[in-house]
Amino acid sequence: MTVEKDLELLGNVIRNEGDEPLSRQALRHALHSSEVVCPTVTDQLDADLLLDRQVKTRLIANFGVGFNHIDIEAAKQAGIAVTNTPGVLTDATAEIALSLLLSSARRTGEGERHVRAGAWVGWRPTHMLSTQVTGKTMGIVGAGRIGIAFARKVCHGLGMKIFYSSRSELAESVALELGATRLELSDLLARSDFVSLHCPATPATHHLINAETLAQMQSHAHLINTARGDVIDENALVHALQNGVIAGAGLDVYEQEPSLASGLETLDNVVLLPHMGSGTVETREAMGQCALSNVRAFLAGDTLPNRVV
Ligand code: DGY
Repeated sequence: MTVEKDLELLGNVIRNEGDEPLSRQALRHALHSSEVVCPTVTDQLDADLLLDRQVKTRLIANFGVGFNHIDIEAAKQAGIAVTNTPGVLTDATAEIALSLLLSSARRTGEGERHVRAGAWVGWRPTHMLSTQVTGKTMGIVGAGRIGIAFARKVCHGLGMKIFYSSRSELAESVALELGATRLELSDLLARSDFVSLHCPATPATHHLINAETLAQMQSHAHLINTARGDVIDENALVHALQNGVIAGAGLDVYEQEPSLASGLETLDNVVLLPHMGSGTVETREAMGQCALSNVRAFLAGDTLPNRVV
């Protein structure tokens, strides 16, 4: 990526150069030796690392929009600014949510496995029946940029009726465009054919979807998660999928990535993707450019474009 070369030209900036999470030792070294560190969303920056007296870093320019892997309070206390990459991954992530929605409802993962296994014996009237999505009801949890982009795709593309639950109300023009109705979470879960999660990972959303809230969903409903894994109690989800509490799920994110809750991978009524919501060439390049603009602003002493803290 040209963005990587541009970052190198800026001098004392340490980024995660590999495709793997940095070790604790590597993170500590980065924080002790560079003013600017560019981690990815898998690099765990906790209070112990950030509050170390030898920390030299003044900017953490995160390569990603989610920042639940960074202890924001500790960064604030240590006087370290944190930036992220909002906006540029909105459509890519909404596309993966759409893909999971259609895959889960229409059983495309199962269908593909069936064909590849050589089990298909030809068209039959009742073979692999699934659930139509067009015209059904979608409950969106968290109506930020990605939630709204996803709502637009399913409303305008699939004629879905939109419910949403969110800390704040949608702008009137957006609510009108989508015909969206704001509901309490329990109402949304009870009234939606499909539920898609788009809220950030915070203490308030930890295990928002658990045994109790799963039981509030309809038994024919499907749950989609492209937000963060720990919004769902994954063991409770496995139990719900095994026992027909809900019909299916589509997941791009997990509680303990890259591990899955026991039993999840053996279920046919769940579609599993490897946290690839933002994974298009265009989007990853744009995320890099966004991180770069934060670094440049910091080095120039300008206002940081995407400051989180
Ligand atoms: C993010 O940016 O938070 C995504 O989960 C990974 O791109």
